[in-house]
Amino acid sequence: MSLSLWTHCDAATLQSGAAQPYGLVPDAALVTEGEVIRWIGARQELPSDLKAQCHAEHDCEGALITPGLIDCHTHLVYGGDRAAEFEQRLQGVSYEAIARQGGGIASTVRATREASAAELERSSAKRLSALIAEGVTTIEIKSGYGLSLEHERKCLQVARSLGCKQAIDVRTTFLGAHAVPPEFAGQSDAYVDSLLPMLQSLHAEGLVDAVDAFCERIGFSAAQTARVFDAARALGLPVKLHAEQLSDSGGAQLAASYGALSCDHLEWLSLEGAAAMAQAGTVAVLLPGAFYFLRETKLPPMDLLRQHQVPMALSTDCNPGSSPCTSLLLMLNMACTLFRFTPEEALAGVTRHAAQALGLADRGVLAAGLRADFALWDVAHPAALAYAIGANPLRASVFKGTLR
Ligand code: NIG
Ligand code: FE
Repeated sequence: MSLSLWTHCDAATLQSGAAQPYGLVPDAALVTEGEVIRWIGARQELPSDLKAQCHAEHDCEGALITPGLIDCHTHLVYGGDRAAEFEQRLQGVSYEAIARQGGGIASTVRATREASAAELERSSAKRLSALIAEGVTTIEIKSGYGLSLEHERKCLQVARSLGCKQAIDVRTTFLGAHAVPPEFAGQSDAYVDSLLPMLQSLHAEGLVDAVDAFCERIGFSAAQTARVFDAARALGLPVKLHAEQLSDSGGAQLAASYGALSCDHLEWLSLEGAAAMAQAGTVAVLLPGAFYFLRETKLPPMDLLRQHQVPMALSTDCNPGSSPCTSLLLMLNMACTLFRFTPEEALAGVTRHAAQALGLADRGVLAAGLRADFALWDVAHPAALAYAIGANPLRASVFKGTLR
């Protein structure tokens, strides 16, 4: 396998416990071997025999290198949009009220069911391209706007297909327990019954990497969520949860008791919930886009999460209802201004901790032996990535060792 050398750069490795903030290595060198990082460190410490083996050399011209960004919570594949609902909300109708009137998620379910796979792929590919253009190399995509075997399959197949056609790693999550579809109106328990064989089939078809649910008064109860999680556990699939977004439903404790990879949203997280997550090693995925777009006022309990040393990730939550957002860099900025993340916490939130939220130990930091997914930025200091609003300082990105 041929080796490539990358020099004339500073590297923010994001390695945990590094002596320097951001794991920063000024004047770094990086050696890739195929799809993997073989060596990274200060250029002056690069072993000369390793340097001699490098067949290609890339001059990064002073760029800052970070791990490829990871968007660990998206609903990227959907039909239609909810611009009219946005107008309604601006006139004072709440997100919950719209959902109860049959709008909200249900309206996107109608549009998604009507769309062909080709149409869904076309609209989703545009959103995905916007994320890739900001250095995203891994994305999680949830189902949850199909809500029947046929349409959940269609959405998950589109997600897989996007990952085959674009230079990005797609991880899929089954979110059948997102809302009760119209054919099960008033029969949410019967709908949950139907999810169990649905999950089995989709898993057997290789379409599911993890399982999620919306545990909320306008979603599913803790008992219903537990049944979905039992099915996931029986199939050996990891779970994650939309928890405590609009109220404290005790979802975090429930998810932690299943060893969940992550609990997401968490504005209403309680002390008990945070303690349970810390105990279980569950990542907190915070979603400032949804907080902003729904004009929420209840902030996630950042200090509680820090006190309990719960790893914090950040994501776009890209979806048509609560966060029609395709900029992960904007989420860095919003996390700092709205949630009081430090820029270093924010960058860890879209790299190291986002990888952890997906259960991926082979990426999220720059270190020997890990995937050669990284981004080259035209910035002098990593804080600049969270600082700018609407700028895109990405110069290039590398996916599995190849410039894209
Ligand atoms: O993450 N909370 C539930 N799901 C999405 C929103 C879905 C929608 O409104 O379409 C979220 O915010
Ligand atoms: Fe979400």
